[in-house]
Amino acid sequence: MSDNQGAYRILTWRDGALEMIDQRLLPGEVRYVTYTEYRAVAEAIRTMVVRGAPAIGVAAAYGMALAALHSSATNADTLRRELADAAGVLRASRPTAVNLFWAIDRILDRVGQTDADAEAIRAAALDEARAIETDNARTCEQIGRNALSLVPDHARIIHHCNTGALATAHYGTALGVVRAAHEAGKGPHVFVDETRPRLQGARLTTWELGQLGIPHTLIVDGASGHIMRTLGVDLCVVGCDRVAANGDTANKIGTYNLALIARAHGVPFYVAGPLSTLDLALPNGDAIPIEERDPDEVTHIGMESLTPAGVGVANPAFDVTPAHLITAIITEVGIAYPPYEESLARLMSEAKGQPTAK
Ligand code: MRU
Repeated sequence: MSDNQGAYRILTWRDGALEMIDQRLLPGEVRYVTYTEYRAVAEAIRTMVVRGAPAIGVAAAYGMALAALHSSATNADTLRRELADAAGVLRASRPTAVNLFWAIDRILDRVGQTDADAEAIRAAALDEARAIETDNARTCEQIGRNALSLVPDHARIIHHCNTGALATAHYGTALGVVRAAHEAGKGPHVFVDETRPRLQGARLTTWELGQLGIPHTLIVDGASGHIMRTLGVDLCVVGCDRVAANGDTANKIGTYNLALIARAHGVPFYVAGPLSTLDLALPNGDAIPIEERDPDEVTHIGMESLTPAGVGVANPAFDVTPAHLITAIITEVGIAYPPYEESLARLMSEAKGQPTAK
């Protein structure tokens, strides 16, 4: 698998349509679904055909492009109104990953600045979606390069959920850190958290690591403390769905537990993600919306029920790891260390080419 991703493409814009691999079927079946309608893209995000914060941002951007291209509007104002409606539908698909909202806003901003006819708006929407995808690929590779100094030779690494090409459309964030270390000859070994209940680690991360030839061992989520205590672990690296101004980080459920265990064992705990996952408008993690998903994800594996009928279930899809448990946040413009209020704001300003307060 190479960039988006050789043998298996994750997401492709082709002939006015969006083609995506159905991640729910992996690794058993590699099936591509073609989307020509933005509502179907919103449903694909909601049902996790496509998942992972950066990838759903890219998918939503192409969803907006589909809304523009397949609209019958003949004047710019009508088309802009239709795009605002499409944005509402796409925004309602999943609440936690801020990349979704960021990508939609980027399309709306671009379209808002396009001061011409409907055809120019259509072209601008598609052009911006393509730019979001391209930026995403460049960003992920840079995150991997920036992290190299944090990964010792022959590092034993615990990784949670899936943050590879499947989750980003290209290369990966936390898994991109592992990939960059592997490509640099550092010989990492990954302990892959299975990641209940959707098993993104067991199904997707092992699939990606296998294709990349990166040595790995699958563990159940509850085994990480035992692995740290008995085998020794050099670092944990995870992705992120939304990072607040103080560094509090929403990521897949179970990330917080892993961070606590890492702290108890003195193991560095790194978060990797693009600046598009920062939500500096939120002062801390308390305001991050946490998606609650269907209880069946917990009570069933496939069609098989594991529990007594009617058992009460809580199924939060994400948790918030407090900033004080995070050793560093790795972005495409550099590594942020505590205090994150200052370091994240500085990285964001630098990326926008603004002078930074020292
Ligand atoms: O529910 P998912 O599979 O979309 O959750 C994915 C994660 O939590 C990832 O760690 C996060 O989106 C970062 S992906 C680079």
